Amino acid sequence: MEQHHPAPVRELDSNVIVISRRSFFGALLGVGGVAMSALLAIPVLRYVLYPLYANSALSKWSKVGIVDSLPPQGSGPVLKQITFRRLDGWRETVTTESVYVERTQDGKIRVLSSICPHLGCTVQWRAAKGDFVCPCHGSVYGEDGKLVKGPARRGMDPLPTEQKEGELLVHFEFFREDVPYREVVS
Ligand code: FES
Repeated sequence: MEQHHPAPVRELDSNVIVISRRSFFGALLGVGGVAMSALLAIPVLRYVLYPLYANSALSKWSKVGIVDSLPPQGSGPVLKQITFRRLDGWRETVTTESVYVERTQDGKIRVLSSICPHLGCTVQWRAAKGDFVCPCHGSVYGEDGKLVKGPARRGMDPLPTEQKEGELLVHFEFFREDVPYREVVS
C-alpha cells in the first residue's frame, strides 16, 4: 500500500515579512487616520495653548486720566495709579502699577514707569532736587528719567502713550531689570 507523505514544509527566509493584503490596507488606514487626527489637532492645540504665547501686552492699555486735567508744564512729574488686565497663562488678573506723568516743555506728555530698572523698587520723585531717587540702592535719575547715578545700568523706562477722546492712555510694559539695554519681558 502506498504511503502518504505530508507535503514538505517550505521554510521561509527569516528576512521576508509576509503581509496579507488586508493587514496592509489596515495599516495604511491607520497611518492615514493618525495623520488626519494630527492635522485636526493643530487648530485645537493652537486654541488651547493661545494664552501661553499670546502677547499679554494687548490687554495692558490703561486709562491715566483726562488730558486737560493733567498738571501744567513746569509742575514736575505726578504719580498716577493705573490698572490693567494681565494674562498669566490661562488666568486673567488685574494688576495695579504706578507711573510718573509729566507735561514736558515742548508740550508733549511723558510717562515713565516707576519701577526702578535696577532691581524693581519704586522710584520716588524729589521735587526739591528736581530728580528721582530709588530708596533701595540709591540710583538717581534726572527729571526726564535719564540715569544720573547707579547702580542702575540705564535710565527709567518710558512707556508708550495714546490719546483717545481727550483721555490719556498708557501701555504698561515690564522691562528686564539690571541690564543696560531696554527689553520688554511682558
Ligand atoms: S532697586 Fe533701585 S537702585 Fe536698586
